Amino acid sequence: MAQRETWATRTGFILAAVGSAVGLGNIWRFPFVAGEGGGAAFLVVYLLFVALIGFPAILVEFVVGRRTERNPVGALMELGGGAWKYIGGVFIVTGCVILSYYSVVAGWFIRYFLEGFRGSYASHLAGYESAAAEVGAPTTALMFGELSTGLDAFVLHTIFMALTIGIVALGIRRGIETATKLMVPGILLLLVGMAIWAYTLPNAGAGYAYYLSPDFNVILDNWVELLPAAAGQAFFTLSLGMGVMITYASYLGEDRNLTRDALTIIGFDTGIAFLTGLVVFPIFFAGGITEPGEGGAGAIFISMTDAFATLSGGRLLGILFFGTVTIAALSSAISLLEVVTAYMIDEKGIERWKAALGMGGVIYLLGVPVTYDLVFLDLLDLFADGILLVFGALVLMLLVGWVAPKFAVEELSKGIGDLGGLGQAWIWAVRVPIVIVLVVSLYLGLVDY
Ligand code: PFF
Ligand code: NA
Repeated sequence: MAQRETWATRTGFILAAVGSAVGLGNIWRFPFVAGEGGGAAFLVVYLLFVALIGFPAILVEFVVGRRTERNPVGALMELGGGAWKYIGGVFIVTGCVILSYYSVVAGWFIRYFLEGFRGSYASHLAGYESAAAEVGAPTTALMFGELSTGLDAFVLHTIFMALTIGIVALGIRRGIETATKLMVPGILLLLVGMAIWAYTLPNAGAGYAYYLSPDFNVILDNWVELLPAAAGQAFFTLSLGMGVMITYASYLGEDRNLTRDALTIIGFDTGIAFLTGLVVFPIFFAGGITEPGEGGAGAIFISMTDAFATLSGGRLLGILFFGTVTIAALSSAISLLEVVTAYMIDEKGIERWKAALGMGGVIYLLGVPVTYDLVFLDLLDLFADGILLVFGALVLMLLVGWVAPKFAVEELSKGIGDLGGLGQAWIWAVRVPIVIVLVVSLYLGLVDY
């Protein structure tokens, strides 16, 4: 068998992992699930999930990947024995489902990016104005409604999947490692600038109040919906629960401090999501939208187009913003396809380019209905996120916590030194409290679905 690939540089791994984590989950998904979850109430539960479950869980995926040097299916088999292979298969299915609609949404970002080249965002909106006045909807919402499905959405989904397949086919060094370097600083800079601008808007204060001052009664009254939604978002945004971090850590040749890497990844990802909220909610309230949940999957497009239509230089900013998010989406899409591809290479002995093309093609077809009707988006997203990812994370916790805890502590200590009691604390957190919360979330998610 050919020598398995490894990352070319020390920073390659961290860049790729950050590239996977930072994506549509932060910019597109976070603001609308937060809006649906009541704003600040959702934010609190989500942040708790990231810190108390996301952090231990990412470490679990890292140690499994680095120890086994295999794709998730092979890794589970090696640690748990043959029957775990079927459970590992769920990861592959999850990856396919998520990428299928992820690509369509990424296509929307390309679409809004291209709109900037055709003229100012204000001039696009002008075309929708009279129609909007008639039905009493925001002009930006009509524009989103029109651009989100149809032939253009289909073509852009095709282009986005072709790019993703192309990069994965090239392999982890040439493709993935080089794709992520400019994106993270670029997004951070743009979001900080936009957040400062949003601060100056009239009625921004109402936006901050909605987003930042939690009413704990709202949490207590709505925990049945909040819990699975926040759990799902935490896993989705950190790329957990389907083996991306297992796969990426499997290409680590050396023993680095995985705890530090985990904190870096989580820090960037959470920071970018949080910043996005600081941009979107003030813009919404300034524009008279006081029920941010109603924007749904269109929230980010509606608020941002509003902003770029008003701002001087908004056209350039819009091109930069939608373009950068497209790149962020690409580096996440790559990681999704990489899991599936690594499985085909390792377990089925298929050549990389054939595996990427074949599986990418299947995923592409799965996404086509979404370009036709957004109902499919909700169905796939809710299923993958609220159920499959939580299930995947639960399975990993059970395996590492109960079946293979010794190896896990030993593996985590490599590159760090003696963990003392912390290693045991981590394992016990994984064994009981985290498992309980995940079981409850999964149950609630299933009932909801
Ligand atoms: N973490 C990515 C985002 O926030 O956009 C999406 C994602 C990538 C989810 C990879 C799951 C995954 F396995
Ligand atoms: Na993310």
